[in-house]
Amino acid sequence: MRKFRILGLETSCDETSVALLDVGARGEPIRLVKHAVSSQIEIHAKYGGVVPEVAARTHVAEVVALLTSVLGSRPLGAFDAIAVTRGPGLATALRVGIQAAQTLAWLTGKPIVGVNHLEGHLASAWLLPENRRRWTFPALALLVSGGHTELVLMRDFCRYEVVGSTRDDAAGEAFDKSAKLMGLGYPGGPAISRLALKGRDDAYKLPRPMLHDPSLDMSFSGLKTAIRQVVEKGSFQKNDLSASIEAAIVDVLIAKTIRAAKKTRVKTVLLVGGVSANARLRSDLERAVRTQLKGVTFLKTPVKFSTDNAAMIAAAGAWRLLRGESHDWKKIDADPELAL
Ligand code: KG4
Ligand code: ZN
Repeated sequence: MRKFRILGLETSCDETSVALLDVGARGEPIRLVKHAVSSQIEIHAKYGGVVPEVAARTHVAEVVALLTSVLGSRPLGAFDAIAVTRGPGLATALRVGIQAAQTLAWLTGKPIVGVNHLEGHLASAWLLPENRRRWTFPALALLVSGGHTELVLMRDFCRYEVVGSTRDDAAGEAFDKSAKLMGLGYPGGPAISRLALKGRDDAYKLPRPMLHDPSLDMSFSGLKTAIRQVVEKGSFQKNDLSASIEAAIVDVLIAKTIRAAKKTRVKTVLLVGGVSANARLRSDLERAVRTQLKGVTFLKTPVKFSTDNAAMIAAAGAWRLLRGESHDWKKIDADPELAL
């Protein structure tokens, strides 16, 4: 197969997204022909977090609207394969994308491949040509999102080993819960990082759990208790507290990533996932890799592909399709607990 066109679908959480991605013979993305993302953030903000039933119902309406706008006047089969997120994620939300993909596979006879959402995040960094030129294996990815915080050793495409992860809250969740305690609303990451720009990061002494622990595991749940204590005292300085929270989370992520990279002797360090949109994490990790890991390349996902999107699902789908993988459209199903 020379060039082929993949239709990507993502509905695992609170973003509905559809993409048409052209990839070359080695699966390298050539052109993102169309990409649409519809975020439900405003809908869930009212509830202070994602409500699964509301997410699923919103995906139903949005997936049709986005497919219509992405496919436009193209004939229905104007793609060579379909890549759809199969898990992990919210069961009913995942099923909306899967049913749309099944219907399209049935109508067009095109192959369908179920994609692991976490592999999608890994592939998000692959969407940037400059990253692809510098990317060598083995690589270590810091995958930080609202639901996951994992250090993934990539020996090759599709060959992964999770070498470290959070024992409790994910990094994005730590941002979200901290913001909620501060009354900043959902999602917390962008809100905290915006205020942090104007604050002092040493104003509040916050814990950095397991920072000096030799394992590659992390823990963020203790942060909530510390923040609750600050907030319950009454007055607090929002910018300073935001900067201190951001520093506490970023410090732990960087220390564990550097430790993991040394242990696994990788050639590349990757930063991916929703929290990779955080400016401080992007710049501090880049500096840490440069100064502490000689000869190691640092690559990060472009901010526009940090949070959930279908372009990354199509890119990961290409890796799988090139290895001859596909699913029977009649049998493909959501797997909310799917692991890497
Ligand atoms: O990858 P993603 O879109 O969804 C999941 O797969 O979970 O990640 C969403 C998470 C949220 O927790 C959000 O607060 C966090 O990414 N996030 C950020 C920033 N932008 C999004 N965290 C810190 N700083 C940001 N700028
Ligand atoms: Zn995600």
